[in-house]
Amino acid sequence: MCGIVGYIGHREAYPILIKGLHRLEYRGYDSAGCALLGKELTIYKAKGKVSDLEAVYEKSPQPAGEEPTVGIAHTRWATHGAPSERNAHPHLSESGSLTLVHNGIIENYASLREQLQKRGFTFKSDTDTEVLVQLIEYQKQLHQSDLAEAVRSALKLAIGAYAIAVIDKSEPEKLVCARKSSPLAIGIGEDDSEFFIASDASPIAEYTKKIVYLNDEEVAVVVRGKELYVTNLMGDETEADVKEVNVDLSMLDHDGYPHFMLKEIFDQPNVLKDCMRGRIVGDDHNLKVVLSAVTQNRRQLLRARRIVIVSCGTSWHAGLIGKQLIEHFCRIPVEVAYASEFRYSDPVIEPDDVVIAISQSGETADTLAAIQQAKQQGALIYGIVNGVGSSIARESHAGTYIHVGPEIGVASTKAFTGQVVVLTMLSLALGMAKGTVEQEEYEETIKELLLIPEKIEEVLKQNDKIERLSKQFTYARNFLYLGRGYNYPVALEGALKLKEISYIHAEGYPAAEMKHGPIALIDNEMPVVFLTNHHRRYQKVISNLQEVISRHGNILAIINKGDEQVKKMVDSYIEVPETLSCLTPLISVIPLQLLSYHIAVSRGLNVDQPRNLAKSVTVE
Ligand code: G6P
Repeated sequence: MCGIVGYIGHREAYPILIKGLHRLEYRGYDSAGCALLGKELTIYKAKGKVSDLEAVYEKSPQPAGEEPTVGIAHTRWATHGAPSERNAHPHLSESGSLTLVHNGIIENYASLREQLQKRGFTFKSDTDTEVLVQLIEYQKQLHQSDLAEAVRSALKLAIGAYAIAVIDKSEPEKLVCARKSSPLAIGIGEDDSEFFIASDASPIAEYTKKIVYLNDEEVAVVVRGKELYVTNLMGDETEADVKEVNVDLSMLDHDGYPHFMLKEIFDQPNVLKDCMRGRIVGDDHNLKVVLSAVTQNRRQLLRARRIVIVSCGTSWHAGLIGKQLIEHFCRIPVEVAYASEFRYSDPVIEPDDVVIAISQSGETADTLAAIQQAKQQGALIYGIVNGVGSSIARESHAGTYIHVGPEIGVASTKAFTGQVVVLTMLSLALGMAKGTVEQEEYEETIKELLLIPEKIEEVLKQNDKIERLSKQFTYARNFLYLGRGYNYPVALEGALKLKEISYIHAEGYPAAEMKHGPIALIDNEMPVVFLTNHHRRYQKVISNLQEVISRHGNILAIINKGDEQVKKMVDSYIEVPETLSCLTPLISVIPLQLLSYHIAVSRGLNVDQPRNLAKSVTVE
């Protein structure tokens, strides 16, 4: 993971770098650091958050009037080497001339390190990254080359994933960056005289819309006030593909909410409308779903005899809902695989298979590798991604962006509902094209989907009640989430949300399967969140509810509005508006998001930056 930022131009670099790091802090917050190149090369580092780095800088800031206009910075999610100041980036080369920040993992770092040590290089950190900066310096000395050439030579020897930015005291007008498997964006300042480097567009967006996303094994050299020059590792010039990228800057701020997570939960009604805009067309009597990717790839999609969904984390839960939607509306068998398992499972992929990759960031290393493999085996890759221009989006043959805006809180909320909305639209569009969905059900589902944003608003109005309810769970040690059918993946997602941000152990289970094990855990100290708002399997769920009541579990039920029967049976409940079975996840997940948020807040935890996690997992 990790986030990197760089700047070269005419403005003071430090504030740009710090602001950029804050925007990228969702990628990791084990340590932060920056290097500023003025008359001297100065490095500041701190264990912990970007705010800790700011405190370090404030103690010995750059002299007024001499603030450097070149710099690189990093916020770390530790892989090799514990979180500490000495392992914080930027790392320095032996001579102290070169310094580098890196996102990724250099897999052959141990052998490279050994070779460099034999040549007299000494290492000060436990990271794989330090090897890169030393290797670049060694290549520079060996071939008497400039920085860019040395970077290319070094990267030819490195195995693994990298997005790097390097500066060199002896070439102060230059910043060199490169990527392979980790994302890197370069913003070209309005007058082409300054350049911004970052792991995603969010630190760049307020300065320029002109962005180049580097491709794998490309090296970019930016020269202050002059040019951007991109080559492959062999040194052949490649064309920089300049894109116009629009990021809604208001989405990058708390907007008056205490945390990004709460803001993003409350964003859902609006962003889901954005997600459907232009894709659900027609008037009340003639509504249709039009997804350009389905239209353009109609023949191949209709030919699919099997669909495999690959994803991780919350996106995997959305995939489980997608399976039910696609199987119901399109009658195509669907498998849902953890991307990390899929890629090493020697998967059987036929050319007629369609592989759907679901990813908020579009950068998850395992999901990316899984689709690269499936692509090689001939499958059509369909991306359901939030990160516009991200690696997974670019690697896919076709796809539908979820368009819910940047998600900053590490616990995914609006991306999940956006993914489910896209999966619903995809199933409907494909089902209609295949003739496997009745016109009546098609129209009814679309109409109901359009009502989802206001139904979510209704649930959000109960925020205060959910906050009050949550207080009884502040000191809970375990939690069970139960649901059936479409609500089973929601149970998994509710449990994951709680684990991620409140560090309470929680399990999601299919309500009926509970009696094959987890029922043994139930006593009056075990909170059980029961999703009963599912009318197709209502009676079955009520029987499962009875099983928990008989064992004195402390039940919080998510119920359909006005369900007097369940109200009388349970300890507490949250009422949600009724909807179609297939759309229940979009409603029932909302109280679970709010519940985990309030429990984490009442435990005094950092909701947006939970320990050990990162938003974008760009390592295996
Ligand atoms: C990390 C995040 C999760 C996310 C998962 C998959 O674990 O913390 O919120 O669901 O990665 O990420 P993706 O960007 O591929 O959806």
